[in-house]
Amino acid sequence: MSVIKKCLFPAAGYGTRFLPATKAMPKEMLPIVTKPLIQYGVEEAMAAGVSEMAIVTGRGKRAIEDHFDISYELEHQIAGSDKEELLQSTRNIMEHCTFSYTRQIAMKGLGHAILTGETLIGDDPFAVVLADDYCVIEGDGVLAQMVMLYEKYQCNIVAIEEVPENETYRYGVIEGEIEADNVYRISNMVEKPAPGEAPSNLAIIGRYILNPDIFDAIRNTRPDKNGEIQITDALRELAQQGKVIAYKFTGKRFDCGSIDGFIDATNYTYKLGLN
Ligand code: G1P
Repeated sequence: MSVIKKCLFPAAGYGTRFLPATKAMPKEMLPIVTKPLIQYGVEEAMAAGVSEMAIVTGRGKRAIEDHFDISYELEHQIAGSDKEELLQSTRNIMEHCTFSYTRQIAMKGLGHAILTGETLIGDDPFAVVLADDYCVIEGDGVLAQMVMLYEKYQCNIVAIEEVPENETYRYGVIEGEIEADNVYRISNMVEKPAPGEAPSNLAIIGRYILNPDIFDAIRNTRPDKNGEIQITDALRELAQQGKVIAYKFTGKRFDCGSIDGFIDATNYTYKLGLN
């Protein structure tokens, strides 16, 4: 049984880069071949031993709730046909997981979205998956790797990967000392540094394991110049107390928040028959 039982999915964002596709459909429901992005995230969490999925949604996101529920009409229609197996993956999820939802009323940044999820998480350590970051790997998924690390360190963990220097401005970027193989103890972290000002080329990707003291840290974090509360800023406070490590994960990650990344992910998944 995993020590991490809950996973939070911030899923309130608009996905404007994919308009008009995301006008009436949540961006988390965009399919990589036949599965919506958020389903890959849920499956990754399940593979890490997590069974309580907590989703922070917003207006226009009802399709996510319907996806992880029974569709009686559809079940009835395809019962006994060879199409039945196409619903096997969602049935399996529903058999093993619970889902809870809360709405983020205003878009005030990732830190604010995570704080909105406090009501679903309570006082336990939890994982966070940003479904836009789609991770593929043979063997243990990224979250499963991080849960194993949490068992050892019991502190906040962010997943990182090396990115080219001219791309650091798109990410949270860390600064830290090597603690073990692929593990850094973070001393500082900067959200979307200006070109040339990044402290390293180690970029945070959308997988976190957080202790519940993150919620107070977020409450104490001031909004940035755009009025958004960043999780990176809240974590920096904890990092300065030595409470955050970064983990350079094994696996391949696609930025499905961008059209190029989404297309690459689709081609890759289709070719390998991973969907
Ligand atoms: C968020 C985080 C950022 C992180 C990124 C990973 O940014 O704020 O620190 O590097 O996710 O995908 P967003 O992509 O939501 O702007």
